[in-house]
Amino acid sequence: MRHLMSPLDFTADELEQLFILANDIEKNPDKYAHACEGKKLASAFYEPSTRTRLSFEAAMLNLGGSVLGFSDAGSSSAAKGESVADTIRVISCYADICAMRHPKEGAPLVASQRSLIPVINAGDGGHQHPTQTLTDLLTIRSMKGHLDNLTIGICGDLKFGRTVHSLINALIRYANVRFVLISPEELRVPSYIRDDVLKANDISFKEVVRLEEVMGELDILYMTRVQRERFFNEEEYLRMKGFYILDKEKMKYAKEDMLILHPLPRVNEISVEVDDDPRAAYFQQAQYGVYVRMALILTLLNIKV
Ligand code: CP
Repeated sequence: MRHLMSPLDFTADELEQLFILANDIEKNPDKYAHACEGKKLASAFYEPSTRTRLSFEAAMLNLGGSVLGFSDAGSSSAAKGESVADTIRVISCYADICAMRHPKEGAPLVASQRSLIPVINAGDGGHQHPTQTLTDLLTIRSMKGHLDNLTIGICGDLKFGRTVHSLINALIRYANVRFVLISPEELRVPSYIRDDVLKANDISFKEVVRLEEVMGELDILYMTRVQRERFFNEEEYLRMKGFYILDKEKMKYAKEDMLILHPLPRVNEISVEVDDDPRAAYFQQAQYGVYVRMALILTLLNIKV
């Protein structure tokens, strides 16, 4: 039995197979419409979500399976003090696979160690969000045609943004990838990413504060939201949240074929006027999230179509 806790749980070759499968699902949805008949997905969400939970549920429904679960810890027996380990043992009696989001780093890992069914980390605190990373990689690969030879700008809250940490970890496996890390001083990537991932693997990167000065270098601009829920201090959050706003004016400096990605939700970091720009790919990215989660469910349940 296999779980997904980190994008690195799959080798680059396994990821390639997953993306090929996701692209086939996109092109031939009818072929997969009954693949999971009789199977159930449990969504155990201890933290709010729109895309991850609903795209997992859409993925299972598109595969002919069914879904059950909770979207709020307060409506589960966690509110009565039940541990994640006990909860997953019980969910194992009701479902075939479980997607779990939790505010505590490592909670899905603890669940996977006690589970009788595959567990997918659907986001744990400020740590990892591997299925968002699979979504991001599939979007880049599908729209750019490759994952190597890219300059990737990541902008915003690089300290608390778990999608950022997962994405950097995953992208360093591709050749000639260069990062431009754009953030206020206070929200720079943690040292375990800068030193243990980027420097330790000799990956080319630079850290800057101003988005305008690097815009023209980028093949991908990955915008992120300032993570209000991870701040200890509301004043600090309010000071940071308007730091970057991508608008039409800034887009004038971007390459013609640069892609704008964002894991969403956005707050105010991408102006709605940018949505009509052909380079704005964040809603397509959300759609790719369904295909990649369909491919992941099939892979973890070892279902061949
Ligand atoms: N991208 C993402 O994780 O969105 P949700 O929080 O809505 O699931």
